[in-house]
This record gives sequence, C-alpha cells and structure tokens, in this order.
Amino acid sequence: MAQDAPLPPVRSARPAQTRALMARTGLDEARIEALVRRFYDKVRADPELGPIFAARISDWEPHLARMVDFWSSVALMTGRYHGAPVPRHMGLGARWAHFARWLELFRETAAETCPPEGAAFVVERAERIARSLHMAIEDAGRPAGAAPRL
Ligand code: HEM
Repeated sequence: MAQDAPLPPVRSARPAQTRALMARTGLDEARIEALVRRFYDKVRADPELGPIFAARISDWEPHLARMVDFWSSVALMTGRYHGAPVPRHMGLGARWAHFARWLELFRETAAETCPPEGAAFVVERAERIARSLHMAIEDAGRPAGAAPRL
C-alpha cells in the first residue's frame, strides 16, 4: 500500500495547529519571510516611515529575524515570538498617520507575496494590532489621571 509522503517538519510549539493554519491560509515560513523582507524594504525607502526606523535600527538582520518570528507566531501560532512590542513603540513619535501608512505598505506587500486567503488573514491581524498599539502609546503619553480621548 502506498504510504503518504512524510510532512515537512514545522518549527512550532503547536505543530498540529500550525499545519491546520498553513492549510487554511496557504502561508508557510518561506512566504512569511518574503513578506517581512519585502515589507521592510518598502518601509526603509518610505519618506515618512524610513527615518523613524533608521533612528532606532542600525543592524537590520536581528530586527528582520524577530519580525519573522513575530509574524510566524501571529499567523501560524508557532509560539516563536517572546517580546513586548508596546514599550518598543513608545517615544518613536508615531502618530495614527504613520500607522495608516504602515498598514498601506503592509496590505500592498501581503497582496504581492501571499495567496489571497493568507493576505486577508495577516492584514486583518495587522490592522487589529496597529489599533491596539496606537491606543497603548497614546494612553501612555497622557498625564496620569487624564480622561481617555474617546
Ligand atoms: C507607525 C507604525 C510603526 C512604526 C514607526 C514602528 C517602528 C518600530 C521600531 C523602530 C521598532 C524597533 C524598536 C527597537 O528595537 O528599539 C519596532 C519593533 C517592532 N514592531 Fe513596530 N512599528 C510600527 C508599527 C507596528 C505594527 C502595526 C506592528 C504589528 C502589527 C509592529 C510590530 C513590531 C514588533 C513585534 C517589534 C519588535 C519588538 C521587540 O523588540 O520584541 N509595529 N517597530
């Protein structure tokens, strides 16, 4: 009887869930890495976002590796990212207009590097995380006890 071809190994804390997400979204590590690299190429060349990143990041490879782990954790539930993004975004001077441009470049890159289901999946998550990051940094910038801006 013919044996099923062995599945390629996945680097994940939850391999079964990761495989299910890969099947549902058409995403895998190679696509995520292509998305991340192409996205940050655009970000670095962008007149509004480029300087904000350049002021913080001089060695890009560790940042890109961290972002591949982040997106792999978000999209494929591999559990590879262990960080705290909120404090990293404090003091960057990023306003909502910067987040909107970030999202525009992210949507564009997702469409170029991912199948439609995968692109929709990562874009929806990016939009949610951008909103919550923005809210967190706005809140942190307000004096203690000030009413939230609704
Ligand atoms: C205006 C938009 C944004 C700007 C200017 C920005 C800028 C940056 C910068 C400069 C860093 C490096 C910080 C450092 O190492 O000191 C960073 C890290 C990071 N960013 Fe953003 N970012 C933006 C939006 C986002 C969004 C929307 C997400 C998620 C969907 C995100 C996820 C991350 C993560 C996961 C890290 C790594 C944090 C760590 O060190 O663990 N960023 N970002």
